[in-house]
Amino acid sequence: MSDIRCIGIATGGGDAPGLNAVIRAATKAAILQHGWKVIGIPDGFDGLIWPEKSFELTLERVSGILPRGGTILGTTNRGNPFQYKTEENGEEVVRDISDQIISNSKELGIDAIITIGGDGSQKIGYELFKKGVKIVGVPKTIDNDLSATELTFGFDTALHTVSDAIDKIHTTAASHHRVMVVEVMGRDCGWIALAGGISGGAHVILIPEIPFTIKSVCDFIAQRERHGSRFTIVVVAEGIKLPPELKQMARGWPVGNTIGDAIGLFSNKEVRISVLGHIQRGGSPSPYDRVLATRFGVAAVDLIARGEYGKMVALRANSIVAVDVASAIGKLKSVHPEGELVRTARAIGIGFGD
Ligand code: F6P
Repeated sequence: MSDIRCIGIATGGGDAPGLNAVIRAATKAAILQHGWKVIGIPDGFDGLIWPEKSFELTLERVSGILPRGGTILGTTNRGNPFQYKTEENGEEVVRDISDQIISNSKELGIDAIITIGGDGSQKIGYELFKKGVKIVGVPKTIDNDLSATELTFGFDTALHTVSDAIDKIHTTAASHHRVMVVEVMGRDCGWIALAGGISGGAHVILIPEIPFTIKSVCDFIAQRERHGSRFTIVVVAEGIKLPPELKQMARGWPVGNTIGDAIGLFSNKEVRISVLGHIQRGGSPSPYDRVLATRFGVAAVDLIARGEYGKMVALRANSIVAVDVASAIGKLKSVHPEGELVRTARAIGIGFGD
């Protein structure tokens, strides 16, 4: 028999389509299955600095949020209670306010917390767990680069956005016989570029895991030209590592500009650049993401009911499992340069600039 009466839910880090679906599922399961009270903590753990801002999540409050992007709780990718930045006497100081956070959550009557977030948020959750807080984690990132889980919600929706954008770019690229550079998200890993590029029919995909040269990209474009294809779509992950020859001409962020400039300079082709940016993080979650987010939300409540704290839900072999947060944090899931997805792309003639 669980000693839980009330749980808190917090969303931290960058948002991702499906966050509201997790909040809804966890709230419904907590109320309908266990009769627990559910409290929404606004703006990640920052919300516990001002406990009066927290609010009850009722069945009515979560009604209608399933198809909505973003998070009704708000989020931040800066708040870390162990290194909280504040201003004192006009100077910035960094303080550990974790004890304050813990006592405020007790004051709210919260017995356990579900933290929905990426690697940074799970690290904070784990530190709080070590201090005795009953924490369970739900992984989140559109980049899909957490090693502990095969998939994170938000990734599939982002792929829909990227795929749709490349479809649209195709027609104008073909009409004008241009090279179109499309920059997509992926701070450390190239999953969005790789899967989005394949699904959108890109010709070249540049990712952080595969070193490339601009000469190779331009040779590829010239070869396409010789075979009668007068336009090329180059998908670039924002996290690519620029080759030495491009470092001097780097225009800073967004990196797609530098790639576009370089291709224009060395290929004699007219180039246009589209940076998809945060539209990849918005919009209504895809059906796949809604289902995955719902499974994660329910599984997180199950973990609390079983008293399995310090764990994070994850997807493995299409089943929901629980992994120790300690073993899940700080480990990236990179694209394997010789992996099946890269080999598939190469087999259909996609170039990686290597
Ligand atoms: O980690 C997810 C992500 O979408 C990255 O791909 C991107 O670099 C980053 O978030 C952008 O974050 P922000 O919202 O702070 O600009």
